[in-house]
Amino acid sequence: MNVAQKTSLEAEDIKPKIASRVLNSKEELLSGHLGEAIMDLLEQRGVLVFPQVGFSDEEQVAFTSTLGTFAREIRGGDIYKVTLDTAQNATADYLKGAFFWHFDGFMSPMPIRASLLSAKKLSPPGTGNTMFANTYAAYEALSDEDKAHIEKLQAVHALAATQLDVYPEPTYEQWQTWRAVGRKELPLVWNHKSGRKSLVIGNSAHQILDYDPLDSEELLIRLRDFATQNEFTYTHEWSLGDLVMWDNTGTLHRATPYPADSGRMMHRTKLEGDEPIV
Ligand SMILES: [Fe+2]
Repeated sequence: MNVAQKTSLEAEDIKPKIASRVLNSKEELLSGHLGEAIMDLLEQRGVLVFPQVGFSDEEQVAFTSTLGTFAREIRGGDIYKVTLDTAQNATADYLKGAFFWHFDGFMSPMPIRASLLSAKKLSPPGTGNTMFANTYAAYEALSDEDKAHIEKLQAVHALAATQLDVYPEPTYEQWQTWRAVGRKELPLVWNHKSGRKSLVIGNSAHQILDYDPLDSEELLIRLRDFATQNEFTYTHEWSLGDLVMWDNTGTLHRATPYPADSGRMMHRTKLEGDEPIV
């Protein structure tokens, strides 16, 4: 008898407006029978925590593949190493931008659907937490006046904006490198095919189109500050072997700072996006 076929999703809310803990065993998760239920719950809750599930790389890839279309890394391979150690990750320097609220893949025609992170090595307690904010819940809580005001607004997103947080006084050469990555104009409100709406903000949002620069900054800061208040956020304090998955189309995330020499190592897999930001 295949026990997994009878398995149903076991989960509990962590906070009212964001994050659930999934309590199924590794074997049940790998069976593939829970894929649809997990993705439904993810869309509702923004973040799913699988406490100390202890997936190997192969298991993480297999589990991710049960949830949707597996997204390979642009530079090849299935696993991306999230670490500040440049010997382990050639793009580690750019990861310092991840200490600020953002979503992944703003330049892609379809931003990735979800990311999954496994904790392989921890930084000292109190550092290297990962924070999430539910941008569906934040949008829903805006006043009708704000909703009407931002409905048609668009913002320019650029890598340069994310890097200026880390290097406020770049050399001209540094600036040109960021600039060469390009820019993307995205609406402030994502009208999802489900009918729900989420905010498209974060550190990549550089300037609202057709706005005075200071008015633009004021609105972007106000929306980010509103969306990342305690009510809409969850902070994950990692244990070894934890897997945390988030809906990249309806959340922002950031890491809290940690020492570059701590060896903190997370292995990430991703699901391909299935809707453009419209
Ligand atoms: Fe990220």
